[in-house]
Amino acid sequence: MSNKRPETMERITTPELAQAFIDEQIAALRAQIGDKKVILALSGGVDSSVVAALLIKAIGQQLVCVHVNHGLLRKGEPEQVVRVFRQEMNANLIYVDAVDRFLDLLAGVADPEKKRKIIGAEFINVFAEEARKLDGIKFLAQGTIYPDILESGPVKSHHNVGGLPEEFDFELVEPIKFLFKDEVRVVGKTLGLPDGMVYRQPFPGPGLGVRCIGAITRDRLEAVRESDAILREEFANAGLEGKVWQYFTIVPDIKSTGVKNDVRSFEWPVIIRAVNTRDAMTATVEEIPYPLLNKIVDRIVHEVKGVNRVLYDLTPKPTGTIEWE
Ligand code: XMP
Repeated sequence: MSNKRPETMERITTPELAQAFIDEQIAALRAQIGDKKVILALSGGVDSSVVAALLIKAIGQQLVCVHVNHGLLRKGEPEQVVRVFRQEMNANLIYVDAVDRFLDLLAGVADPEKKRKIIGAEFINVFAEEARKLDGIKFLAQGTIYPDILESGPVKSHHNVGGLPEEFDFELVEPIKFLFKDEVRVVGKTLGLPDGMVYRQPFPGPGLGVRCIGAITRDRLEAVRESDAILREEFANAGLEGKVWQYFTIVPDIKSTGVKNDVRSFEWPVIIRAVNTRDAMTATVEEIPYPLLNKIVDRIVHEVKGVNRVLYDLTPKPTGTIEWE
């Protein structure tokens, strides 16, 4: 199949156009797949979620979704994937709790690229183990979108399990490969996916792992996850959700002196990052109103274990990248 978006393809901007696309894809998927089975790595990101929802509509229980919890997801994410897909959409979903496997492998590894490699490779190991347990899978579905094809550089790890061992000769199913991100969101919304999934901010494949700077420890990872949840909640309350491109917290592997309840403390700082960008190549820093910043600081230092300071990263890209690792 060609990898060029057909010139006649209209830009999907309305629910009506999205519905027409969905109907067309359901017919095409049924014709391609017949009565065979399809496997999909479902991260809960918008692309894989839209592919899952389309396939559930087209082939129902012939789709097997595998959700790997590597312990580096945001607070509430694995639960949301299970709730939305297993309970609300009646999907055939395998949930794999691989938290200990990932965190044990990552223990003591401080180099960012090594961390990324371990996470990527172990993800494929876990997915391959699950695939091996299943009989009669003929197809592998992927949430490839058009920018992935256009960029055509190294394939993005979070979209691709292309590194599967050779024993698997799955045929690819890529129903949204000609869509741009905004079109994927319109299709997702029309398929009935929750806003929290459809309008989700970008989230790196290695997840919170690259925001727990240096060697990951379980307690510091929890500080990243809890502070991130507070930041997201306060941004949502302030009406900033969907208005700021990407916002998250980072916890470096340093401690500083503080005082809590008249007792000296020696704890981590949390760093807030909130940026706007068009293409992630350059980025500007969001001007968070001071009262909101104060509220976030107050909540983080009082609610997150092991934290006594909060900093706001005021660095644009360049010179800082968006992530810290
Ligand atoms: P940087 O930090 O390079 O990030 O300014 C640009 C965008 O890419 C995301 N990012 C990643 N996404 N795997 C991903 O899937 C990665 O390893 C990774 N590193 C950075 C980052 O969140 C931002 O949106």
